Amino acid sequence: MAMIAKQCKDTIVTVVDLNKERIDAWNSDTLPIYEPGLLETVQCARGKNLFFSTEIDQTLKESDVIFISVNTPTKDYGSGKGKAADLRFIELCARNIAKVGGGDKIVVEKSTVPVRTAQMVKEILSEANNGYSYQVLSNPEFLAEGTAITDLENPDRVLIGGEITDEGIQAVEKVANLYAQWIDRKKIITTNLWSSELSKLTANAFLAQRISSINAISALCEATGADVDEVANAIGMDSRIGPKFLKSSVGFGGSCFQKDILNLSYLCQHFGLPEVSDYWNQVVLMNDYQKNRFVQRMMDAMFNTVSGKEIGILGFAFKKDTNDARESPAIAICLKLLEERATLRIYDPQVKKETILSALGLLANDDRITFCKSAIDATSGTHAVALLTEWEEFKSLNFNEIYSQMEKPAYFFDGRNLIEPKIIKDAGFRLYRIGKK
Ligand SMILES: NC(=O)c1ccc[n+]([C@@H]2O[C@H](COP(=O)([O-])OP(=O)(O)OC[C@H]3O[C@@H](n4cnc5c(N)ncnc54)[C@H](O)[C@@H]3O)[C@@H](O)[C@H]2O)c1
Repeated sequence: MAMIAKQCKDTIVTVVDLNKERIDAWNSDTLPIYEPGLLETVQCARGKNLFFSTEIDQTLKESDVIFISVNTPTKDYGSGKGKAADLRFIELCARNIAKVGGGDKIVVEKSTVPVRTAQMVKEILSEANNGYSYQVLSNPEFLAEGTAITDLENPDRVLIGGEITDEGIQAVEKVANLYAQWIDRKKIITTNLWSSELSKLTANAFLAQRISSINAISALCEATGADVDEVANAIGMDSRIGPKFLKSSVGFGGSCFQKDILNLSYLCQHFGLPEVSDYWNQVVLMNDYQKNRFVQRMMDAMFNTVSGKEIGILGFAFKKDTNDARESPAIAICLKLLEERATLRIYDPQVKKETILSALGLLANDDRITFCKSAIDATSGTHAVALLTEWEEFKSLNFNEIYSQMEKPAYFFDGRNLIEPKIIKDAGFRLYRIGKK
């Protein structure tokens, strides 16, 4: 929304949220999200045509176009628990829009939703019977965290789905005109509603599948002596495959991939397609396998026990350049290490202590974890280091110094294959890298 406000100076954009703390943060210079270039983008429009508010009803009433961007987590109760998307927040928004009235409106699904969610939104709005007409569109968001601003400035494509009626086509055109103020028309594609909804789930499923595919091959590389980076390079040069998203790692994380694949898999079950459902579910299972394999490898290297040993964790975010730790592989790895009775020293340049504690489900006074202000502090006196996020600053650490203040033998488990192996080995470490013998 900040990018739309920055690019469309004649459009007033008001972001509303139930969470007052978040809105207060959006109105300050300490934004709730860390994202390179975001603060500058917000500052460029805030107070001019970009506003953040908790006045939900009034804002909905006055708006012509409403983007529903609320969370759509995996259901953690009742039927579909652990798989289906929980659409109660979307439904509440639709009911709220119907309740406040105020004029004809275009309602845009920006959240990632299961196919045919628009039907539910349409039904709720049409039952309002308030004399106003509503058009429901789907405009999924393809930005990636960590590169959100550049992705929004120059997206590969913008997708807008709508009903194939005169009113639907006009509504699509109105939203397309917003994006066309800074994006080439050829990149703005329009489809029917259901194709648009399904395209978002499919895009995430294909992206996550590539990571699970290369991670599956990494296990075979470790067993055979092939090198996963060499394999990735060789296959990526095939123009039919391409080089992106072929980096083997400790696994994918983030709030989207797992939930969207589980949701896709659940939809396939629902529509009587169990084989298709199992096919996609395997992408998530492979991701879990990769995280477990990493911890197992740590245990194997350290004489089958980490009990009583202290381990330095470098990075907790699910990827670099974000403070988001949702579904981060670091969560499963830290929990498993704690279960094996290790103690942890954790450092991440952006993720807050409270976020880490809540992700791990631990209390602030848990003495098994020490939160550190630097990488050097996090590794001090430890038996092993596990590098779990590919932050640039880790590349320029002084590994000789780190080694010198660790227990010996000192182990380095590079979960991102980030550091040049020679540097780590020369410093004296026993090194484990993903997909290398
Ligand atoms: N995070 C991403 O990079 C990304 C990328 C593409 C798509 N998406 C999709 O966007 C959606 C939102 O993701 P997110 O990461 O921003 O989630 P989030 O949980 O960080 O934010 C959702 C916000 O919605 C607010 N909210 C919930 N119900 C509300 C209501 N009825 N009225 C007003 N506010 C309400 C919450 O308070 C919260 O601040 C999800 O469907 C997600 O799949 C996210």
